[in-house]
Amino acid sequence: MSAENDKTRPHSAEYFGAERDYLWNADFLDLLARRLDLRAVERAADIGCGVGHWSALLYPRLAAEAQIVGVDREPRHLVGYVDRMRAIADTRMEAIACDANRLPFADRSFDLATCQTLLLHLRDPAAALAEMIRIVEPGGLVLCAEPNNLVARLPFSGQMGEEAVERLLRLSELAWRQALGRARLGKGEEFVGERLPGLFAGLGLQDVRVWLSDKTHPSIPPHSSPGEIANAQAWERWRAEGVGPYDRNEMRTNVLASGGSEEFFDSAWRDFVDGAAAGDERGWSAAGGVLLYVVAGRRPRA
Ligand SMILES: C[S@@+](CC[C@H](N)C(=O)[O-])C[C@H]1O[C@@H](n2cnc3c(N)ncnc32)[C@H](O)[C@@H]1O
Repeated sequence: MSAENDKTRPHSAEYFGAERDYLWNADFLDLLARRLDLRAVERAADIGCGVGHWSALLYPRLAAEAQIVGVDREPRHLVGYVDRMRAIADTRMEAIACDANRLPFADRSFDLATCQTLLLHLRDPAAALAEMIRIVEPGGLVLCAEPNNLVARLPFSGQMGEEAVERLLRLSELAWRQALGRARLGKGEEFVGERLPGLFAGLGLQDVRVWLSDKTHPSIPPHSSPGEIANAQAWERWRAEGVGPYDRNEMRTNVLASGGSEEFFDSAWRDFVDGAAAGDERGWSAAGGVLLYVVAGRRPRA
């Protein structure tokens, strides 16, 4: 069943497997913490916190005895959030079910409002950002880790030079149409990371800074590192369950919404599914670059 239509599956649950433990390089996060002086943060809110992957990485880099509040519209995720955060020594943490567009906090309640891969799912990311700005104090930090996932969907591999140009173009068109159609249907922009610096500035944030995560997801068969194994297993799981990138109904709906024809979708989908299987069989490798932007800005003091 399409994840979009499967109301029993909490939002994004298919992306919370072991592979999510390999989203960042720890030393890059240390550098980020130094650049942004995260040690000074005593009150933090993680919006769209899911089961706590981002909070768990940030928390040890905040002030000793910092308080963190995880917010998600899926109460079922919050159970996992609390479990994950409790596993960190001496955590001062709370978990609250609510919508990112209506946060139940007074103005200026936090030093840091943050999110990771939330805004790409929202019809109106600016409204959620405005809420994040509202809840931080003057001089407080808004920090978003959001991707351009369109790039992750393009057919890059170490063997592209051997492929038929027509096939690569069809797969690229599939990626563009799915991302644009999804946005037109109000399900969010997979490429929202490209828009964030402008949104930050437009909403009045100052000292806007933009970086890229330095993590890639290389695929070097026969996949010996733990991160590679987790990623390869995630792709197998998505394929077997027909979810995530293998959610055919979801892709078809999005492609049609961008003006693609049924005929185009059928042929491009075949290219995608058959091509992935062929690549696996032939042991193709990839450097696995992605664009995960880190955008930070401060609420003006005045
Ligand atoms: C891709 S997950 C990211 C979770 C977590 N930030 C992480 O990086 O592991 C997106 C999360 O946003 C939540 N979400 C989606 N729309 C939301 C909304 N309108 N308000 C609050 N949370 C939302 C989903 O339930 C899900 O947990």
